Amino acid sequence: MSLNVADISAATKSALAAIAASSDLNELKTVKIEHLGDKSALSKASQALGKVAAEEKAQFGKIVGAAKAEVSAAFEAKLQSLETERDARVLSEERVDVTLPSTIPSVGGLHPLTILTNEISDLFIGLGYRVAEGPELEAEWLNFDALNIPADHPARTMQDTFFIEPLDSKLVLRTHTSPVQIRTMLENKPPIYVICPGRTYRADELDATHTPVFSQVEGLVIDRGITMADLKGTLDYFAQSIFGPDVKTRLRPSFFPFTEPSAEVDFFFNGRWIEWGGCGMVNPKVLEVCGIDTTEFSGFAFGMGLERTLMVRHGITDMHDIVEGDLRFTRSFGIGGR
Ligand code: FA5
Ligand code: MG
Repeated sequence: MSLNVADISAATKSALAAIAASSDLNELKTVKIEHLGDKSALSKASQALGKVAAEEKAQFGKIVGAAKAEVSAAFEAKLQSLETERDARVLSEERVDVTLPSTIPSVGGLHPLTILTNEISDLFIGLGYRVAEGPELEAEWLNFDALNIPADHPARTMQDTFFIEPLDSKLVLRTHTSPVQIRTMLENKPPIYVICPGRTYRADELDATHTPVFSQVEGLVIDRGITMADLKGTLDYFAQSIFGPDVKTRLRPSFFPFTEPSAEVDFFFNGRWIEWGGCGMVNPKVLEVCGIDTTEFSGFAFGMGLERTLMVRHGITDMHDIVEGDLRFTRSFGIGGR
């Protein structure tokens, strides 16, 4: 390109006109390439400066520089105004009307039994216990024999226990969480402080106070110098944390093959005594099966039904409500979505 003032001024004019005519950011981008890009007339004029005679260089340099500056300034100004316009448009187009009626997606929630289980676990973790677990499909030996429940014990008959076929598999659906005691003692040396929540199974009909699939929570402590007084103190703390600070507990003599002495633990709630679960000092026979030195260690254990605990605490009168999974029930606990 040969340099002359008229051409530069024409290129400048057409660039300014194109910038002014750009109506959106895309168009402006194209205009920039065309009028300010490497192949634009103004860039070519800059390149041609090298070939201009020395005495004219300063003069042309100023003219070309001023032209490029003017076009660049116009471009920047236009860019800013188009961006501002775009931002305003996006804000108004994408505005959400929060007053419109809408469908709120239903969110999941925990079943009250799960909440109670977590609450009890947290409570005992706070006392230094560990949470222990075992399988629901359990070895008959762990569910019964190791717990000193003899082969002819009524609890083992077909009425109470779900045996697994083939019968010589020696597997049952665990009838209580007590086999977790045995597993824990076989795998750990004392001192032992565990809480074992879990699902249990018995061939009971579903009625207002029974369900064939229910939950228990087992506690087990083995240490030096453990007595019934430790058991009673622990049960009081447990009951008061779950039912309220004024709740009292009492122990009634009872029998379990795996504890000696054994007791039923009741608590006093809303003016009456309510049976909560079983407990006692771990039978030395059970400790011996697990290889624990009974001259050095003693311990206590307890096991409560969680559905019954929930029923009492929340005034639920029918077990069906807990097992049927009707959301209207769960929602009344303030959980389980809307
Ligand atoms: C036992 O299962 C003993 N393993 C408890 C135990 C543990 C005693 C440690 C000593 C030491 P029992 O069969 O009483 O005991 O059951 C305990 C609790 O489970 C009952 O008090 C009750 O709350 C609950 N329970 C039993 N059967 C059902 C059922 N069909 N439906 C709902 N809850 C049940
Ligand atoms: Mg009982």
